[in-house]
Order: sequence, then C-alpha cells, then structure tokens
Amino acid sequence: MAMIAHKCKDHTVTVVDINQARIDAWNSDKLPIFEPGLDDIVQGARGKNLFFSTDVDNSIREAEMIFLSVNTPTKTYGVGAGRAADLRYVEKCARKIAEVADSDKIVVEKSTLPVRTAESVKRILESNSQGRKFQILSNPEFLAEGTAMVDLEAPDRVLIGGDQTPEGKAAIQKLVDVYATWVPRERVITTNIWSSELSKLTANAFLAQRISSINAISALCEATEANVDEVAHAIGTDSRIGPKFLKSSVGFGGSCFQKDILNLVYLCEHFGLPEVAAYWNGVIEMNDYQKRRFSRRVISSMFNTVSDKKIAILGFAFKKDTNDTRESAAIYICKDLLEEQAQIAIYDPKVEVAQIQRDLGIDADNQYVSYCKDAYEATKDAHAILVLTEWDEFTALDFQKIYEQMQQPAFLFDGRNLLDLEALREIGFEASGIGKG
Ligand code: UDX
Repeated sequence: MAMIAHKCKDHTVTVVDINQARIDAWNSDKLPIFEPGLDDIVQGARGKNLFFSTDVDNSIREAEMIFLSVNTPTKTYGVGAGRAADLRYVEKCARKIAEVADSDKIVVEKSTLPVRTAESVKRILESNSQGRKFQILSNPEFLAEGTAMVDLEAPDRVLIGGDQTPEGKAAIQKLVDVYATWVPRERVITTNIWSSELSKLTANAFLAQRISSINAISALCEATEANVDEVAHAIGTDSRIGPKFLKSSVGFGGSCFQKDILNLVYLCEHFGLPEVAAYWNGVIEMNDYQKRRFSRRVISSMFNTVSDKKIAILGFAFKKDTNDTRESAAIYICKDLLEEQAQIAIYDPKVEVAQIQRDLGIDADNQYVSYCKDAYEATKDAHAILVLTEWDEFTALDFQKIYEQMQQPAFLFDGRNLLDLEALREIGFEASGIGKG
C-alpha cells in the first residue's frame, strides 16, 4: 500500500487495523517491520496520501476500492486443523464491509487464500447488499521479504483476477489502471478469479519444490563425493531449469511456503485428489527431513552429545534482510538442541529477544538460552557455531579470532553454504556445509 501511495500521488491510501499499537507503530519513527527501503517510502508518503488509522468504518465508507490484507494462518482447530486456511479474519472483514458500506465497492483480496474464497466473500457481501454493488477481485502479492521494495517497484508480473462479466471487467480495469502507473502494461496479467487464486498457491508450491528438490540431492551429495553447490550451478545453467531458487539450505521457512502448500494439499484432498495431495505434501516432508537431518548431523559430529555444550547460533530470521522468524528453520534446530540440553547462544542482527522467546516457547530466565549482541560474544567459549541465516555480515567475521576463543575441537556447521569451508579448515575448524561430502 505504501508503494501504491508512493507511485500514485493522486490516490489516497488509508491502511486500517483494529490494533491501535500496530497503527501507532506505523505512524511512528520505528515501523513495526524491518524491510530495506520501506522507511523512506513510508516517510515520503505518510501524511500526504498515505494514512494509518484505526477508524475502520469511516475508511470503508470513503473508499472506492478496499484491499483485504488480513492473516490467513493455518487452522489450529476443528475440520482441516493443521492444513486448511483459517478464514475467520477474511470473513469478519467481508461482514464489516457489508455492514458499513453505503455505496458500491470494489473488494480486492490481497491475502493468499484457498481457491474459491472469493465466492464466500461475494456471497456474504451480496446477501447483505441492500442495493449496493460489490465486485470482488483477486490480486495476489508475489513480493518476497527482504527484497519487497525492489519486487514491488519492478514486479515480474502483477496478477488480477475478476469476474468475466462487463461489471467484473470494469473493476479489473480500475485496478489495472492503478498498477499501470508504474508497471509496464504487458506485465499486468488478468484472469478469471479462480485462476488468480490458484496461481498464487501454485507459484509458492513450485518455488518451494525447487528448494526441496535440491535439498533432497544435498543428502545424496553428503553421502558421496559430490558438492551440491556445484550440482546446482551445473543444472542451473540449463536455461530450461534456470539458476534461481536452487540454493540448498537447512530448510525453507517464512510465512508462505509451508502454509500455502498445506492449503493446496487440503484443497486436493477436498476435491478427491489424494495422489495430487501426496505429491505436494512431499515438498513439506522433504523440508522437515532437511531440518531434522541438520540437527542430527550436528549432534553426531560432536561425539553424539551436545549436553551442556555452548553452541553459537548465528542468525534466527528465516532469511537475511528481514526480522521475520515465521517458520524459520532456526526455531526447529534450536528446539532440537534444547531437547538435547545444549546451551545455546543466539545472535541475529535484527530479530528481537522477545520474539525468539515466543518462538522457542521459553521464559526470559531460561538457563539454557542466552542472547548476544554480536557474533563474537555468541562464539566465546562455544564448542560449535551453527550458521542458520545467510546475513552478509557473517562473511566478514574474523574467524581466526573466533577460533581462538572457542573450545577445541571447534566445530562449524554452515546451514546456508555461506562461508569458505576450505579457509575455515585451514584455520583449524571442523567445518561442514550442506550437501558436501
Ligand atoms: C515467498 C515467495 O518467494 C514470494 O513470491 C511470495 O509472495 C511469498 O513467499 P518469502 O517467503 O518472503 O517469499 O521468501 P523467499 O525468498 O521465497 O524464501 C523462502 C525460504 O526459502 C527462505 O527460508 C529462504 O532462505 C529459503 N530459500 C530460498 C532456500 O533455502 N533456497 C533458495 O534457493 C531460495
């Protein structure tokens, strides 16, 4: 929304939330999320044509177009628990719009939703329409965290789905006009509403599948003399395969991949397609295996016990350049190590201590976990270093100095294949990466 305000100066964008603290943060100097380049865009537009408010009702009344951008977490209760999307927030928004709108509206689904959710939103709005006309569009977001501003500024494509009726097409055109302010028209794809909803789930499933595929090969590389980075490079030069999303890692995380694939799996089962469901579920299973495999490798290399050993965790975010930890592999690895009674010392340049405590389900006074101001403090007297996020600053560390202040033998497990293992071994580290025999 900040990017739309930044690019379309003649439109007024109001972001509303019922959470006062969140809105206050958006109106303050410290925004509630860290994203490179976001501060400048928000500061440039805020108070001019970008507003943050808790006045939901009036904002709905004044708006011509309403974007639904609420959470659709995986359901934790009832039918489909653990897999289906929890749509209660979407439904509440639809009911709110139906209750307070006093003119025609275009309602745009921005949240990632299971296929045919637009239908439910439409039914709620239409059965309470009282003469007002509602058009529903699907406009999934493809930005990735950490590169959000660049992705929004120059997207590979913008996808807009809507009804193929004259009214639906007119609504689609209105949203196309917004994006066309800065996105080349040929990159704005329009489809029917179901194709648009399904495309988002499919895109995430394909991306995650590439990571699980290369991670599957990483296990084979570890068992042989092959090197997964070399294999990825070799296959990625085939233009039909392409080089992106082939970086083997300790496992993918983030708020989208797992949730969206689970959603896809649930949908396939719902539509009586168990083989298709099992196929996509394999992507998640491989990711779980990759995380588990990493913890096991750490423990077995360290003489089958990490009990009371200090282990430095470098990086807790699910990827670099974000403070987001949702589904981060680091959470799973740390939990595995805590079960083995290791002492873990965590350093991440952006993640807050309270967030780590929530993720690990521990109190502030937990004796097994400490939080460090930098990598040097985390690695002091440690038996091992685990690199779990590919923060650039980790490549610039003085590993000679770190080695000298560690217990010997000094182990290093690079869960991101970020560091030069040969150079580390020359210093004296017992260093290993992912997918390297
Ligand atoms: C993803 C999609 O990329 C984006 O289009 C969609 O809108 C939301 O979901 P995001 O979750 O922000 O974006 O990050 P992404 O860059 O896709 O990374 C997801 C996870 O995969 C991270 O944990 C990352 O470290 C991991 N990853 C990515 C790999 O392990 N290897 C790779 O080659 C690429």
